[in-house]
Parts: sequence; C-alpha cells; structure tokens
Amino acid sequence: MTNFSIRVSGADEKEFRCEADDTILGGALRNGNGFPYECNSGGCGSCQFELLDGEVEELWPDAPGLSPRARERGRRLACQCVPKTDLTIKASFRDEYVPAVAPKKQSLTFVGAKQLTPDMTEFSFKASEDAEFLPGQFAMLDLPGVEGLRAYSMSNLANADGLWNFVIKRVPDGKGTAYLFDIMKSGDEISLDGPYGNSYLRTDNGREIICVAGGSGLSPVLSILRGAVQAPELEGRGLKLFYGGRGPQDICVHDIVAADPLLSSRVEVHTAISDEEAPGASEWTGARGFVHELVKNTLGDDIKEFDYYFCGPPPMTDALQRMLMLEYKVPAKQMYFDRFY
Ligand SMILES: Cc1cc2nc3c(=O)[nH]c(=O)nc-3n(C[C@H](O)[C@H](O)[C@H](O)COP(=O)(O)OP(=O)(O)OC[C@H]3O[C@@H](n4cnc5c(N)ncnc54)[C@H](O)[C@@H]3O)c2cc1C
Ligand code: FES
Repeated sequence: MTNFSIRVSGADEKEFRCEADDTILGGALRNGNGFPYECNSGGCGSCQFELLDGEVEELWPDAPGLSPRARERGRRLACQCVPKTDLTIKASFRDEYVPAVAPKKQSLTFVGAKQLTPDMTEFSFKASEDAEFLPGQFAMLDLPGVEGLRAYSMSNLANADGLWNFVIKRVPDGKGTAYLFDIMKSGDEISLDGPYGNSYLRTDNGREIICVAGGSGLSPVLSILRGAVQAPELEGRGLKLFYGGRGPQDICVHDIVAADPLLSSRVEVHTAISDEEAPGASEWTGARGFVHELVKNTLGDDIKEFDYYFCGPPPMTDALQRMLMLEYKVPAKQMYFDRFY
C-alpha cells in the first residue's frame, strides 16, 4: 500500500507516514502521535489542522465540525482527510492524546444481539484477535452500504475472546442504525477501526466516580463501571450511575445492574424520565426532569468532590458540563466525556 510523508510544522516539528487509505488522524495515532481529537466523526472540530502544502481528499466535505470560514483559511479536519500526496501541515500535538492502545483495523463477525429497550440493543461481534481497548473507549464501524464510518462505544471490557459489544440506539431514518437493526444477520462481517477516545477510566486518583448517561450514552459508562468494579486500585471507592431516558420503557439500567453481581454490590443507580407524554409516564413514581438536574438534586453540596464520566447526545452532555463548570466550578481535569454527534 502506498504511503505518504506527513511533515508537521509547529512548536515541536515531526514527521510520520500515513497509508494512502488512512485518515491523517488515524495515521498519526497509529504511529503513536498525540493528535488532539474527540469524536473522530467530523462533528466536534477538535482535530482541525492547517494544510500548508500538498493535497488531501476530504471524505465528508460537509462535515459540521469545520465552518466555511475555517475552511477558507486553509483549515481541515484530520479525521476526514486522506492524503493524496506528501503533506506539510500545521498542528499542535499533545501528550495526553498519545494512544494507550494504538488503533488498528480488523474484521468482525456479528454473533448476537440482546434487546434492552424498544429502541436500544446490545450487539456482539467477534474478531479473530484479542479485543484490546480501555473502558469507555469507542471504535469506528464500517457498515456495508453505509457512507462514512460510524462511532460506537464498547459496553464490555477488553478480552482474549475477541468480543466487541456495543449498546446502540436506533436513530429514526439513520442509515447506520437501519443496517444494524434491520439488515445485519448472524455471521455477517463488518470492519472495525479502533480503539479511539480519551474519556476512558482513570484509576490513579482518589475521588469517587459518577457516571452519567442519556439514551445511547449507556454503552461506555457500562464499560467504565465494569472496569471500575474490577480495578484493584478502586476497591471500596463509591460508584454512582445516573441515567436519563424519555420514558419508563427507556430505563433499562436497574435490570442490567441487578443481573451482574459485581455491579449490583457496588453501583448506586439513580434514574429520571424527561417526557411527560411518553408511554407509561403517568405511572412513573421515580424522579422526573433532565439527568443533569438529577445529578444536582442528588449530590447537593458534595458535587465538586467527584470524577465525572458522561456520554450521550450533545444537548445532555453540554448541559451537564455547563452546570458542573459554571455553577459549581468543577475543574476540567475531573470531567471525561464523549458527545455522540
Ligand atoms: C464518540 C462517539 C461515540 C458514539 N457511541 C455511540 C454508542 O455507543 N451507541 C449509539 O447508539 N450511538 C453512538 N454514537 C452515535 C453514532 O455514531 C451515530 O451517530 C448514530 O448511531 C446515528 O447513526 P446513523 O447512521 O443511524 O444516523 P445517520 O443520520 O445516517 O448518520 C449520523 C452520523 O453519521 C455520520 N455521518 C453521516 N454522514 C456521513 C458521511 N457522509 N461521512 C461520514 N460520516 C457521516 C455523522 O457522524 C453523523 O452524525 C456515538 C457517536 C460518537 C461521536
Ligand atoms: S475529531 Fe475530527 S471533527 Fe471531531
């Protein structure tokens, strides 16, 4: 396979090689470079770089993570650009983005699915190699007939059986989820590239852990909680899960936690529903409102004392981040989150 030289000009100059069918972000991370990024999906804009010399192909020219103004100024998204020639780019690499597990591409076979709610299912795939990732990370799935890759977070832990599990929520008219829910059959093959993501479980500080998720954000927080209950460094540490859904039929977390003795003996679960019109809402006896309000009402004055892991749709993650940072001045280093663009 042809590969190209990517020369990085900036505070600390470097050069790496990138395969002709790889993104600049993928190439940088595979070579152990800390290229800043968040979603790897064209949505957040945090992987922007300046193209100084050479030619790229943009996989998704209309990706919302790049404004027309930034584009005019020569900026591009590293997660959506593939090199066509040797390149010189301007970017600032950061040590915290050097991958703990370098992403790699592999083939997966669909081996099973378990329905969790009317529109959320845990899908299981098997690879021929060990499944290597950290709790809370995600992978890019290349689904037959679907343009562009889709990011999904693993719900299980790294394992030697090659199992990659993902809790996925069906999106109305979504192309990727239509393939997963309606077309894919047992034994079908898809391609995976991963792991990616920086919001993985940290075991090296003394704070208790709060996991917060809305809807499909459940997948990575399940992985984080499963990792936390098995980490010797976190023995005895408090673990709380806050989960929000539209209506009672979305609230599957009590059953998931109850079915796992390790989780049920350690994890305190809090749930809320946000849609008064959802089926069964009038009989719901638990909390009502958005999940960030549930966090605030439950934790009270102690809210600054925890490490937070949160995932889900951007309106949910943004509301929680704003509340923690602006209202309670929780330091950024206590927050790890993924926004599901
Ligand atoms: C870091 C991260 C982790 C995620 N984890 C989960 C998870 O665990 N569970 C879950 O249910 N969802 C997760 N998502 C959301 C998921 O990636 C999909 O956006 C969602 O399933 C809808 O996909 P769809 O194809 O059905 O919808 P569509 O509306 O068809 O596509 C939506 C998404 O696909 C991408 N996309 C669309 N067109 C293109 C294109 N031409 N080229 C490239 N990309 C394109 C964009 O990211 C867009 O937001 C995650 C998202 C991110 C960013
Ligand atoms: S990482 Fe490229 S746009 Fe989010």
